[in-house]
Amino acid sequence: MAADRRAKAATLDLRRRLLSSSCRLFFPENPVKIIRGQGQYLYDEQGREYLDCINNVAHVGHCHPTVVQAAHEQNLVLNTNSRYLHDNIVDYAQRLSETLPEKLSVFYFLNSGSEANDLALRLARQYTGHQDVVVLDHAYHGHLSSLIDISPYKFRNLDGQKAPLPDTYRGPYREDHPDPAGAYASEVKHVISSAQKKGRKIAAFFAESLPSVSGQIIPPAGYFSQVAEHIRRAGGLFVADEIQVGFGRVGKHFWAFQLEGEDFVPDIVTMGKSIGNGHPVACLATTQAVSRAFEATGVEYFNTFGGNPVSCAVGLAVLDVLKTEQLQAHATNVGSFLMEHLSQQKAKHPIIGDVRGTGLFIGVDLIKDETLRTPATEEAEYLVSRLKENYILLSTDGPGRNILKFKPPMCFSLDNAQHVVAKLDDILTDMEEKVRSCETLRIKHPPGSTGPGCRAAAGSRPSNLEQGNLVIKSAP
Ligand SMILES: Cc1ncc(COP(=O)(O)O)c(C=O)c1O
Repeated sequence: MAADRRAKAATLDLRRRLLSSSCRLFFPENPVKIIRGQGQYLYDEQGREYLDCINNVAHVGHCHPTVVQAAHEQNLVLNTNSRYLHDNIVDYAQRLSETLPEKLSVFYFLNSGSEANDLALRLARQYTGHQDVVVLDHAYHGHLSSLIDISPYKFRNLDGQKAPLPDTYRGPYREDHPDPAGAYASEVKHVISSAQKKGRKIAAFFAESLPSVSGQIIPPAGYFSQVAEHIRRAGGLFVADEIQVGFGRVGKHFWAFQLEGEDFVPDIVTMGKSIGNGHPVACLATTQAVSRAFEATGVEYFNTFGGNPVSCAVGLAVLDVLKTEQLQAHATNVGSFLMEHLSQQKAKHPIIGDVRGTGLFIGVDLIKDETLRTPATEEAEYLVSRLKENYILLSTDGPGRNILKFKPPMCFSLDNAQHVVAKLDDILTDMEEKVRSCETLRIKHPPGSTGPGCRAAAGSRPSNLEQGNLVIKSAP
């Protein structure tokens, strides 16, 4: 515990010296040193309490006592690998199978989401005998070499099988399109045909069941079923990445892919993050047929830590807590309340272009102007930093980094929702006020100069006003 007593500046200094700067910090100018977590709250070294609106890993709440106790009890008895018979791994597979369609009946246990997606890639290639993968633009599926290659989010130059995000707010087919699901699915079909014309063969389509890193996107109903038809016709498999969005987060269903309807069943589902509430656990579920094709290679699948008795005890405890605390229903209630209140803010503040989501998966799309829906990137960053000053942790994502992402621990309460919305309202009102005073000042100032109100609004960044909108725009 000595490390907790180190001054924050000393920790930062050591980190800068010893860790790669590729491992980034939240709020790099003034990072937060967190030393304790409980439920939906994080505490810094001064004991200040932050409301966590973004940690979808601490799914049932930071340091949930049931989960911690389960790990501790199993640690006291045994932790070894999956080459020995043990009840935890089979109990866990059985409990997970109860949440999934019958067809997804074979389980592999691993340590991270990246490992699960990497195995999905291997299984799909083995089953189909094909190599290529179709992904959505701006997707992220993991940090391994195999996955960076299929993650446009990190590797923007990805050339090839990348279909447009099914984003009905800012994509090519919007809310006024008569059939956005069909139109976006046709784009996938087009990507498949172009690859085939070059002699390529498709092994899989990978997508998050609700694209999260791409900006909390809700694909139009029917999209994934049509994509699955196109992909299977090309001989490929459908891989649903549930690493951010599974385990009841979407409220109405346990898995986000189930939003597509009962008949829709992916060939592979990958799970991570929330599955172990912070303990490194991951899982892949697939069909007997896909698994058998992999077994036929004769290659053993061995993962030193995957499926160990402690990890499985943790996974089982997470499922228990979800059930006993009825967190899926809670996500529906709190999520609807939050959506409703955020929508009221949209009516009040024109910077809010769109509020979308389901359960405790919500995105607030900030825009500079209503017609072009230009991403309000700097404003989003400014808002997040002001929220942090108010002890609320929120983040942005999406290609324009202008979508506020709500993905809190599932115990996030109605009071928490009310509190965040009130603060958001205060900050946006204050921003609008500053922009207004900026306009007044600009009239008095010679053209090109900006007044002090503008500078204050953008947190020392030079700013200007655009078209009377409540826009604080950074100078290039
Ligand atoms: C959608 C998605 N898939 C896969 C991963 C990779 O998971 P991990 O970081 O556990 O390897 C992430 C991580 O951020 C993710 O968001």
